[in-house]
Amino acid sequence: MANAFLFFLLLIFSSNIIFENIHACNQSERSSLLFFALTLSSPQLNWTSADCCNWQGITCNRDGWVTHLQLPSNGLKLKGAIFPSSSLANLTHLTHLNLSHNSLSGSLDQTEFFLSLNDLEILDLSYNLLFGVLPSSLPSSHIRMVDLSSNRLHGAVSSSFFQQAWNLTSFNVSNNTFSGPIPSSICSPSSSSLRHLDFSFNNFNGSISSGLVKCSKLQVFRAGHNYLSGSLPEDMFNSTTLEEISLPLNSLYGAVSDRISNLTHLTTLDLSYNQLSGVLPLHLGKLSKLKYILLDFNYLEGSLPLSLMNCTNLVELRMGSNNLGGDISMLNFSKLGQLSKLGLRKNNFSGILPSSLYSCKFLKAIQVNYNNLEVQIQPEILSLKSLSFLALGSNKGLTNVTRAMKILMGCKCLVFLSLASSFLGEEMPNGVEMADSNGFQNLRHLDLSSCNLSGIIPSWLSKLKMLQVLDLSGNRITGSIPSWLGTLPRLQTLILDFNQLSGEFPMELCTLPMLVSGQAAAQVGRFYLELPVYFQPSADAVTKQYNYLFFVPVIYLSHNCLSGNIPIEIGQLQLLQELDLSANNFSGNIPDQISNLKHMERLDLSMNHLSGKIPASFTGLNFLSSFNVSYNNLGGPIPPGTQLQSFNASAFEGNQLCGGPLPNKCQTTEGANAPDMSTQDANTKEHQIPWFYVSVAVGFITGFWGVCGPLVLMRKWRYAYYHFVDNVQDRFHVMIAKCMASMRRKLFRS
Ligand SMILES: *[C@@H]1O[C@H](CO)[C@@H](O)[C@H](O)[C@H]1NC(C)=O
Ligand SMILES: *[C@@H]1O[C@H](CO)[C@@H](O)[C@H](O)[C@H]1NC(C)=O
Ligand SMILES: *[C@@H]1O[C@H](CO)[C@@H](O)[C@H](O)[C@H]1NC(C)=O
Ligand SMILES: *[C@@H]1O[C@H](CO)[C@@H](O)[C@H](O)[C@H]1NC(C)=O
Ligand SMILES: *[C@@H]1O[C@H](CO)[C@@H](O)[C@H](O)[C@H]1NC(C)=O
Ligand SMILES: *[C@@H]1O[C@H](CO)[C@@H](O)[C@H](O)[C@H]1NC(C)=O
Ligand SMILES: *[C@@H]1O[C@H](CO)[C@@H](O)[C@H](O)[C@H]1NC(C)=O
Ligand SMILES: *[C@@H]1O[C@H](CO)[C@@H](O)[C@H](O)[C@H]1NC(C)=O
Ligand SMILES: *[C@@H]1O[C@H](CO)[C@@H](O)[C@H](O)[C@H]1NC(C)=O
Ligand SMILES: *[C@@H]1O[C@H](CO)[C@@H](O)[C@H](O)[C@H]1NC(C)=O
Ligand SMILES: *[C@@H]1O[C@H](CO)[C@@H](O)[C@H](O)[C@H]1NC(C)=O
Ligand SMILES: *[C@@H]1O[C@H](CO)[C@@H](O)[C@H](O)[C@H]1NC(C)=O
Repeated sequence: MANAFLFFLLLIFSSNIIFENIHACNQSERSSLLFFALTLSSPQLNWTSADCCNWQGITCNRDGWVTHLQLPSNGLKLKGAIFPSSSLANLTHLTHLNLSHNSLSGSLDQTEFFLSLNDLEILDLSYNLLFGVLPSSLPSSHIRMVDLSSNRLHGAVSSSFFQQAWNLTSFNVSNNTFSGPIPSSICSPSSSSLRHLDFSFNNFNGSISSGLVKCSKLQVFRAGHNYLSGSLPEDMFNSTTLEEISLPLNSLYGAVSDRISNLTHLTTLDLSYNQLSGVLPLHLGKLSKLKYILLDFNYLEGSLPLSLMNCTNLVELRMGSNNLGGDISMLNFSKLGQLSKLGLRKNNFSGILPSSLYSCKFLKAIQVNYNNLEVQIQPEILSLKSLSFLALGSNKGLTNVTRAMKILMGCKCLVFLSLASSFLGEEMPNGVEMADSNGFQNLRHLDLSSCNLSGIIPSWLSKLKMLQVLDLSGNRITGSIPSWLGTLPRLQTLILDFNQLSGEFPMELCTLPMLVSGQAAAQVGRFYLELPVYFQPSADAVTKQYNYLFFVPVIYLSHNCLSGNIPIEIGQLQLLQELDLSANNFSGNIPDQISNLKHMERLDLSMNHLSGKIPASFTGLNFLSSFNVSYNNLGGPIPPGTQLQSFNASAFEGNQLCGGPLPNKCQTTEGANAPDMSTQDANTKEHQIPWFYVSVAVGFITGFWGVCGPLVLMRKWRYAYYHFVDNVQDRFHVMIAKCMASMRRKLFRS
């Protein structure tokens, strides 16, 4: 017994010795690692002990060779800008190299490193600052996984790169600036193990070569956000192992072949933002595993195949901005129990929105505006307990706004409600039952614009404490602007233009918390929407997509019958970016205090009865890019200074003003006040904007100035006549009807 115990102890002891021995670090590898550590400016690695196999991030094999170097997210920074390939190259037994999420810079095009790591299986250098071109081939024939994504690498990915990549299963170069074609021989027999291919967010161009089919195990193919053209390669549809095809934001054209129905494992099909045409594959419904069908912004036509309703796993069905049509009432949604988002906006769908939709219990977003649908809001909509996004406007025959609002008030989660261009000519819901209700407690965006509604601004709106955007423009609303609007704690965007409002500018509006205090505004932050909304700031500008609730702090009151003075308290609205009071009956002086509004970018006071001078302090409005005081009773000199002189003379005409930019000189010149010519060319400095701008990247400082970045950079943008999301087309028509001369907005691409 005692012997056995002794033997046991001995065993432990000796195994310990063996254990220590096998980890004895090769001195030459140790010095290579130290050399690597020396090239880092930070951090100080705790690499001091004798046995380098115990160092942080290092693993050795039984023979004491370093096999793993894994220091992801360690804040590694180099002293110079040269990737430490020479020291790494000496670690010839390395199988795992993971230095992702650091700040390593330098070029990989150093053959010593790639050539000598003959055992490398895993190479993850993603999220660094690597630049330069790729070496001509992958380091080892054992390589299984390569992730170089989110660096600054460029050049072509040559076909030879994959030549001996027998066991490569995953290759990710997304989010770099690679160019040229997607390598054609990537699926040569040698790399038939490939499962994941990600080329997205680069500058690849040309057509997608055929040959993918040779990757007989390919599951994920992503190459979105590139400049790919041509049609979808036919043999892609032979790759029956495919689970995801994501090619959004390219220039692919042609039809989606019906052969796609052979890809029975497909769960994600994202071909949005291309130029695909033709009808949808008739047998799409055979793809019973499909969860995401994203085909927005193409030129697809015809009707939705009935078989689609057999895709019982569908989570998102998004086909907005196509030429699709047909009677939607034929569709039976009752089998789509997982459906969460339905986006069919801007098509030609007709018929009654089927009530089977209400059986999709998990629906969060319905966006079917801009169609010819016959929509009515039924109480059944309340069974959609998670519904937060509802855009039904600009369809046929939505009536009874009172009933609609009463029902919708019961949608507890509703955040975004757009019913523009509906209920034409009805009366604004304003009954006792509305006032008594406690609905819409989460509503942040309410759009009832272009509805031609009569009545007053109803007081039940005063209970919507979350409301950020209120758009009631293009109606026939009478009465005065209620003072309680100024108490809505989150209101930031107030659009009441093109109505028949009278009375004065309420003083209380000058205390709107979100426009007065940056602190209040910062607390609200950015609210992400279930479906994106679209917005084109001006006719020749690009359409922008917003994935979050988009607002600019503005007050639009133009084209009403408002009168009286502009209150001096307006100077408290520090955060206001646009103020449009044009085409009213405002009189008195322009308050000097407007020059306190340092963020002001567009100020339109034209077509009123304002008198006196333009305050000299206006020269301090540094962000101003659009300004109009034409057709008032203003007199005296236009204050000389940088900003005001850069506007067209038309901004000042119809007054008794003098001085630049007007042709008539002022009689009494007070000192040296020649206009500063250096700013005159500002108008022509219009920056090129990419045709489509996915605004997730727009983020700017606190997340509050959602669009401030581009606004500052792009002058053309700053001229924009802001209106909000989703109803621009119809508003445009209304505006024309109201003979608004200088509308600068235009239709979305259709
Ligand atoms: C350490 O590695 C070098 C080559 O990297 C080799 O020449 C040397 O023999 C190794 N030493 C031991 C003790 O294995
Ligand atoms: C790498 O190894 C070579 C030869 O074995 C040696 O000359 C060189 O100094 C080593 N480099 C580093 C950084 O250790
Ligand atoms: C450095 O590593 C040694 C052992 O490898 C350990 O005892 C020591 O606490 C570490 N120091 C720091 C600052 O991490
Ligand atoms: C590299 O390390 C990061 C962080 O631990 C990890 O998320 C990633 O999966 C690793 N890469 C590979 C290819 O294993
Ligand atoms: C490829 O992987 C298989 C199975 O894991 C292995 O047997 C083979 O040796 C690997 N080939 C290469 C070249 O690494
Ligand atoms: C490629 O890397 C990016 C991060 O840079 C990641 O978001 C993406 O999911 C990866 N692709 C695949 C197919 O894993
Ligand atoms: C691209 O890389 C940058 C920098 O590493 C990163 O901030 C960004 O999130 C990445 N974008 C995508 C789409 O992966
Ligand atoms: C791809 O882009 C390169 C460089 O911009 C250009 O020379 C080449 O003609 C393009 N190829 C195709 C097929 O458009
Ligand atoms: C793809 O499948 C079709 C029909 O099954 C077949 O005719 C064609 O030869 C296949 N193409 C390739 C490249 O395998
Ligand atoms: C689907 O694949 C089968 C064989 O796997 C083939 O016979 C058939 O032609 C394919 N169908 C289409 C529409 O490509
Ligand atoms: C839907 O699936 C059912 C059962 O699998 C089948 O009988 C029916 O024909 C399919 N409908 C369509 C339109 O493909
Ligand atoms: C609107 O609906 C209500 C029921 O909520 C009904 O009493 C009323 O008559 C309807 N109004 C019109 C104009 O149809």
